[in-house]
Amino acid sequence: MDTKHTITLNTGSTMPLLGLGTWNAAKNDVGFAVEQALQTFGYPHIDCAHVYENEKEIGKALHAIFTTGKRKREEIFITSKLWNDDHAEEDVIRACRQTLADLQIDYLDLYLMHFGIASPHGLGTEPLDANNVLITAKISLRETWEAMQELVGTGLVKAIGVSNFTAPMLVDLLTYAKIVPAVNQIELHPYNQQTNLVEFCRFHTMVVTAYSPLGSQTEMNSGKPVLLENATVKKIAQAHRKTPAQVLLRWALERQTVVIPKSTTLVHLKENADIFDFALSKKDLLELASLDKRLRYVDPYEWWHIPYFD
Ligand SMILES: NC(=O)c1ccc[n+]([C@@H]2O[C@H](COP(=O)([O-])OP(=O)(O)OC[C@H]3O[C@@H](n4cnc5c(N)ncnc54)[C@H](OP(=O)(O)O)[C@@H]3O)[C@@H](O)[C@H]2O)c1
Repeated sequence: MDTKHTITLNTGSTMPLLGLGTWNAAKNDVGFAVEQALQTFGYPHIDCAHVYENEKEIGKALHAIFTTGKRKREEIFITSKLWNDDHAEEDVIRACRQTLADLQIDYLDLYLMHFGIASPHGLGTEPLDANNVLITAKISLRETWEAMQELVGTGLVKAIGVSNFTAPMLVDLLTYAKIVPAVNQIELHPYNQQTNLVEFCRFHTMVVTAYSPLGSQTEMNSGKPVLLENATVKKIAQAHRKTPAQVLLRWALERQTVVIPKSTTLVHLKENADIFDFALSKKDLLELASLDKRLRYVDPYEWWHIPYFD
């Protein structure tokens, strides 16, 4: 893969447009997927998170790759995310150090606040009350962001950003932020295009990363339309002699968003990296634009019963 496919962050550093997603990558499979992605298919970027519970396995793979010299640490852009139960000022640096230890690296290229909501430390990752509603903590986003800003000075992280932030959350954060988030990572695909939010982020110098670009496909999404089976996507794929997945990933690139498909399947890993040799036409883009239905595959209301995005 050509490393020139990057976007410049507001820090001045560059971020590769394609990364490997790791949510729901099973502990047994994720190491192999990371090795194949980085060594065989040339992925320059990996998207991790403490809450995915596989950073130790990813760390073993990274250690093997870096110590054998097959890839150098500085060639790979590594992102991780701070979970909701580590939002307190005193928890942020400890959580970051834990992720670094698990990943067996000494700095992150990007550290994101995973969600703009805090839950108490010590009650598990998603503590629910008797009504099945997420238990929240009295910790402001400001406290968390200011602690994340401190991380930059320590050298543990090169850049900081947010994830799942809406425009009002960003407007508030920008009133006190000394560091403007480098990235907002949000759910983006033709069924949930959020064009206004993408433009808003860009206007405020933030790069946007598209998560669940293939429509996720976890068990919790049974019953929702399957994006990869959409007739328009399939038709465009056929016309370009590409697969539906490649069309969806190319769509993200055409919008100048970073894209992070998850895969632990060899043929998919290869296919998902092969998206730089074709372009979607204006007509393709118009047809894909017409598919928007504000459908979220990742809707925290379904698990936390807090209307986060409503
Ligand atoms: N910030 C957040 O809150 C947040 C939320 C969700 C996701 N994310 C990040 O974004 C990444 C991607 O999102 P996601 O995991 O929800 O879903 P996704 O990347 O949209 O879809 C992953 C699913 O598609 C399959 N797949 C991958 N390549 C394929 C191909 N070429 N053809 C057919 N199927 C293919 C995968 O199966 P195989 O493994 O078998 O290929 C898996 O079932 C995550 O892994 C995570 O890093 C972040």
